[in-house]
Amino acid sequence: YYVEAKPTISDRDYDALYHELLDLEKNFPELVTPDSPSQRVGGEPLKAFKPVKHLLPMLSLDNTYSQDEVRDFVKRVQKLLPDEKLDWVVEPKVDGVAMSLRYENGKLAVAATRGNGIEGDDVTANIKTIHSVPLSLTEFTELPKSKKNNSEDSVHPVLKSILEVRGEVYLTKAGFEKLNAEQRAAGEEVYANARNTAAGSLKLLDPKIVAKRPLDVVIYGLAQIENPKSEIRNPKSQIELLDRLKSLGFKTPEKIWRCRSADELIDAINALDKIRKKFSYETDGAVIKLNSFAQRERAGFTAKAPRWAMAYKYAPEQAETKLRDITIQVGRTGALTPVAELEPVFLAGTTVARATLHNADEIARKDVRIGDTVLVEKAGEIIPAVVSVLVEKRPAGNQPY
Ligand code: IVH
Repeated sequence: YYVEAKPTISDRDYDALYHELLDLEKNFPELVTPDSPSQRVGGEPLKAFKPVKHLLPMLSLDNTYSQDEVRDFVKRVQKLLPDEKLDWVVEPKVDGVAMSLRYENGKLAVAATRGNGIEGDDVTANIKTIHSVPLSLTEFTELPKSKKNNSEDSVHPVLKSILEVRGEVYLTKAGFEKLNAEQRAAGEEVYANARNTAAGSLKLLDPKIVAKRPLDVVIYGLAQIENPKSEIRNPKSQIELLDRLKSLGFKTPEKIWRCRSADELIDAINALDKIRKKFSYETDGAVIKLNSFAQRERAGFTAKAPRWAMAYKYAPEQAETKLRDITIQVGRTGALTPVAELEPVFLAGTTVARATLHNADEIARKDVRIGDTVLVEKAGEIIPAVVSVLVEKRPAGNQPY
């Protein structure tokens, strides 16, 4: 229902079973387990988030807006791995908040934000409210009998299965629109963009409020996998990892491309750009990564980022239009923001008639004048911004603002 949108039973049957479960748990509270579906929305609000040290640092990626630099990147990696056939995967770059999910003995144990890359916040209670996040992974729960620790006096099992995966939490585009419609209806300020709102949602201390935010998650990475069940082979490549994650019940990238050359990578980047607007989440680029984990290991890391991956960012969409007027918007806190009143223009899916001019300094720096022809841009922000003035189109005698 939540991962593939392919329900296996009707909503009615699901509700009946869910209510039966709630009744049973009410009558036999000792039988409530942390991975019960009833436990997605936790109890009391937290006082603060506990810090979590990451097992492997959560790094960022080198990024570029240039296809030539993608070709240089491929050459660079080829130099690091001479005579090897390079095999690549291209994935959508989800514009959300990086997340690490750790399962111990098949149960979701910790969900942590990236923080400074070394240490993040424990946001497990908030992440549990996301229905597509499995609370329990059967394959990692049922340890083989012979290998189970049977000694009576030991509290900790000797054999532990661990799965730590990485992904991106986001607000769906539709969910974000709905949230803003609710804000508007309640006379509240609208949120500027989906990414910051997702980040803000994860920082809320009350999971009951978080549960109302339409958050979701895509999982694309692996930090650790240890399963004492020897018959299960660990993934050796990105493609194997994504297949495995999918079969475990995780939501994985909408579409991926496998490429063998720089030309194929460029084709994939362009193909993704053509379809990404139809995705339920915002994307701001393509992530290019080596498929083979053995090759990744040989390529290694710099202090900040892996040498085996790179993000290609799409240029934000821009449109040209006329600036009719500049008005001043008064925020709730009394802050004054100059707003460009524009001749309506179609940009990235919506008609834009207003754009932010940020502040007086920005107006002066860009020398924006009423009557000018301007370029407006949507860069992940729902509220567009005036980027620059097309001075060559300025009417004679136009006065500075
Ligand atoms: S792989 C070592 N794959 O983009 C880091 N990251 O700008 C490997 N992101 O920190 C990250 N979609 O938060 C990867 N399909 C994807 C991604 C992705 C979004 C984020 C991630 C990363 C940031 C880098």
